[in-house]
Amino acid sequence: FEIYLDGLSGIMPKMPMTYAELEERGSQALDPWLLSYVAGGAGDERTQDLNASVFDDWGLIPRILVDGAQRDLSIELCGLSLPSPLLMAPVGVIGLCAQDGHGDLAVARASARTGVPMIASTLTVDPMEDVAAQFGDTPGFFQLYTPNDRELAESLVNRAEQAGFKGIVVTLDTWIPGWRPRDLSRSNFPQLRGLVLENYFSDPIFRSRLAKPPAQDLQAAVGAWATTFGNPSLMWDDLAWFRSMTDLPLILKGIMHPEDVKQAIDGGVDAIYCSNHGGRQANGGLASLDMLPDVVEAADETPVIFDSGVRSGDHVVKALALGARAVAVGRPYVYGLALGGEDGIVHVLRSLLAEADLLMAVDGYPKIADLGPSALRRRP
Ligand code: FNR
Repeated sequence: FEIYLDGLSGIMPKMPMTYAELEERGSQALDPWLLSYVAGGAGDERTQDLNASVFDDWGLIPRILVDGAQRDLSIELCGLSLPSPLLMAPVGVIGLCAQDGHGDLAVARASARTGVPMIASTLTVDPMEDVAAQFGDTPGFFQLYTPNDRELAESLVNRAEQAGFKGIVVTLDTWIPGWRPRDLSRSNFPQLRGLVLENYFSDPIFRSRLAKPPAQDLQAAVGAWATTFGNPSLMWDDLAWFRSMTDLPLILKGIMHPEDVKQAIDGGVDAIYCSNHGGRQANGGLASLDMLPDVVEAADETPVIFDSGVRSGDHVVKALALGARAVAVGRPYVYGLALGGEDGIVHVLRSLLAEADLLMAVDGYPKIADLGPSALRRRP
């Protein structure tokens, strides 16, 4: 109604009202090398495209004469009461997508304003403590890319606990970078050489590994980060170590296979994060949504977070109906940040939620609890 009422006074929305326009205008606002990093996916991006298009394989079946007076989008996740099922997926070096280079802080402030939790990447430009200080009353999660230096991993998790993060998301599908032609053909390495990753660089264990502080030898610090980052030898045996590192809720991200869901739950995780990394890691695979029903079934009572390809309110609703407890978005809020800073992110999140809320109300599923597989039909 806010937008309609503004319209009566002749005030038109400045931000895009469709994803297509958001993507187009957000893309124009980014430097070409950053755009190739944000928009690019693995291979010729078939899996990335599929992530979004498969939502059309499903349709919500409307119900009528349902009492829609009480609408409710709130959820419980890992002991937290959240006003909505939406989360902001971790996006590394998102800081650079803001004019001032402090995009992480803008995301955190947008989180405080909307109640939509930020999952802060290991690769924040600002230190995680500064990011967490902007969260207000909204809980935040810390996403760990497990470095091949255990002490460093433990230091990052300890800092996240101290900084007040409410859960640790360990991403397991990115121990090597995927084959991303947009990045490869632009060769982002010159830009990466000057990359400032204060979250890493401010870490006492990371600093202890350097001959000189990052401010004195940035290239050596970036090089040390690049060699520590990947961890090809992580195995299921390491799950006990992840678990022992923290008493905070532990979530594994990048799970698509039901057998992996079972192993994760046996290892004591608190939530499963079903994702194919927005199609950035492996091409030619299934869409993340294709595997959601199997993941949910294998997870049983353990909550499932879903991402990859969510572009609109109906996508959020369909993922919820297929059993996701919470739904995360990546690129949509990055474009919001590029286009309008903190306000741009707030606009994107509020629009997604308003669209989901209206759709659920119009179609006769006013509460999340009303949604389930029977609300959906696969199109013939
Ligand atoms: C990501 N993603 C990601 N995931 C993660 O666990 N840690 C990270 O640092 C990053 N970095 C990152 C950068 C960029 C530019 C993008 C687009 C994505 C993956 C992200 O968390 C999420 O899984 C996908 O973005 C979801 O897909 P959509 O919503 O972008 O289609």
